[in-house]
Amino acid sequence: MIVSTVELFKHAYGKYAVGAYNINNAEQTMGLFRGNLDSKAPFIVQISKGARSYTDKRMLEAMIRAANEIFPESIFAVHLDHGDEAACMDCIKSGFYSSVMIDASHESLDKNIEITRRVVDAAHAKGIAVEAELGQLGGVEEDIAVDEAAANLTNPDQAKEFVERSGCDSLACAIGTSHGAYKFTGKQGLRFDVIEAIQKRLPGFPLVMHGSSSVPQEEVAKINAAGGSMKGAKGVDATQFKRAAQLGVTKVNIDTDGRLVWCRVHREHFLQHPENFDLRPPGKIFMAEYAKFIAEKNNYLGSAGQLECVRPLFKK
Ligand code: G3H
Ligand code: 13P
Ligand code: ZN
Repeated sequence: MIVSTVELFKHAYGKYAVGAYNINNAEQTMGLFRGNLDSKAPFIVQISKGARSYTDKRMLEAMIRAANEIFPESIFAVHLDHGDEAACMDCIKSGFYSSVMIDASHESLDKNIEITRRVVDAAHAKGIAVEAELGQLGGVEEDIAVDEAAANLTNPDQAKEFVERSGCDSLACAIGTSHGAYKFTGKQGLRFDVIEAIQKRLPGFPLVMHGSSSVPQEEVAKINAAGGSMKGAKGVDATQFKRAAQLGVTKVNIDTDGRLVWCRVHREHFLQHPENFDLRPPGKIFMAEYAKFIAEKNNYLGSAGQLECVRPLFKK
């Protein structure tokens, strides 16, 4: 069942974080829904601008509709990840999305607020929620490259002003993470001091953590052993998700880890079966492995086991 992002956040706030997982193809979609049902978790399925143009946005939306029929017990929101204004407006018009993210974090504060406000007005008129971003993560987002050294953490005072003036429903904060597989060069990690300061100024307001993949070292080792070359890849410590959730982090975005599962499964499969040229055998393994990965991730987030607790909220 496709549900409201805001309602999912209300239930989760301060207790657990909802996993927001990116999809690009049918195998990811199947594994994602299976893994969330296996772990009895509500979740958010998200589509980036890049994913919308990989095959065709209608293909991804149709896969989500199909998964909703194949897994009728599932409860999830549909979200646009890292949209610009045009993509947000397109999704709002379509009526299919529970929420959109407007990412104008590379703009000045005033311009970011101005753009976000326009998206909020259009979205709220159709009952759709808006995630906005303040501060910049390190790493690469879509086509905007941000030097990791110059990563600009969210200013807690600005966060309060930003939320009040923009009217957004949740805020993506830069709290030490970055996108991709190379997040930290040393002992850096989540900036709980910054999260705490933001929550103090915005009590009860849902915060979003992007760049939350853990980049499991055993996954990286298997990829490298099967011919990959991922030196120095490092991610967020998943055991910290629950502490972040208690401080208001209500949505945790994970994409890279899923790509690592895909990469490991396919590299290992073709290394072990050099005679194979069929996409289905590794595809089958990937769907099962991805489902297992999602279920494990939901344990760290605390969303595992919450499915039947949220269901009564959405009874018609
Ligand atoms: O934050 C970015 C997400 O991982 C989506 O990545 O833009 O390559 O689809 P993408
Ligand atoms: P990762 O690259 O850490 O998976 O982050 C994904 C993300 O933030 C999607 O918006
Ligand atoms: Zn992101």
